[in-house]
Amino acid sequence: MNILHVCANPKPTEESVSKQLAAAFFGKMIELRPDTDLVNVDLYDEKPPFYSYELYKRAWYPVADESYEPSKAEDMAINYAAKQAEAFNDADVLVLTMPMWNFTVPAIMKAWMDQVLSPNLTFTISPEEGVKPLHKIKSVVLLVASGGVYKEDDERDALSSQVRSAFGFIGIDDIEIVWADGQNSLFNMDSEVRKEMAIEAATETAEDIAEIGLGSPDE
Ligand SMILES: Cc1cc2nc3c(=O)[nH]c(=O)nc-3n(C[C@H](O)[C@H](O)[C@H](O)COP(=O)(O)O)c2cc1C
Repeated sequence: MNILHVCANPKPTEESVSKQLAAAFFGKMIELRPDTDLVNVDLYDEKPPFYSYELYKRAWYPVADESYEPSKAEDMAINYAAKQAEAFNDADVLVLTMPMWNFTVPAIMKAWMDQVLSPNLTFTISPEEGVKPLHKIKSVVLLVASGGVYKEDDERDALSSQVRSAFGFIGIDDIEIVWADGQNSLFNMDSEVRKEMAIEAATETAEDIAEIGLGSPDE
């Protein structure tokens, strides 16, 4: 099984709750599926570029006009996206690790999503067929930590809805969320308990992902 892990957190693991969820998830996953082929993308090690006009033209002009000839600068502008899309399309499962910042995904994660969710890289789009995946990702696992507590469907949470919408657009509807909420100990007396519960949930999610129809451990 191939897993692409994309992490958007500048903190060391001992200071980051979301990274501790990732450590628990991958600890269990490797134990259950030692054959796991894991590709780690640390967005703070290799920062994604922000979207540019050249990238926009290189990615989207050929959608309307197949004969469009990109310039050299436009071709170069798609390098990062193309490299990331290759890892994306190789993956069976995508794991996203991040904190909630200002109620949504960190900007560096959004920059990565803008690059990778690009036509003719991870999906095709046409008036006749709509959006068709070029990837084979079955599930996205979202490992997130937040200072506040957000019950399901809390309208302040723009993070999980963004992840659901963006990956749903390219055909991934199975989004497994492990959320260590209430991590601001100034306002939540039980932040440690919440963290331990989320770490347990991360382990259980790894067990589920290891099992769900992904073939035998030899594959
Ligand atoms: C820039 C910044 C913005 C934040 N915005 C929010 C927010 O909108 N809602 C929230 O509940 N917590 C917010 N927090 C708190 C973090 O989500 C919380 O500390 C979480 O545990 C961080 O995850 P980590 O421990 O993996 O780094 C913010 C923290 C920072 C540094």
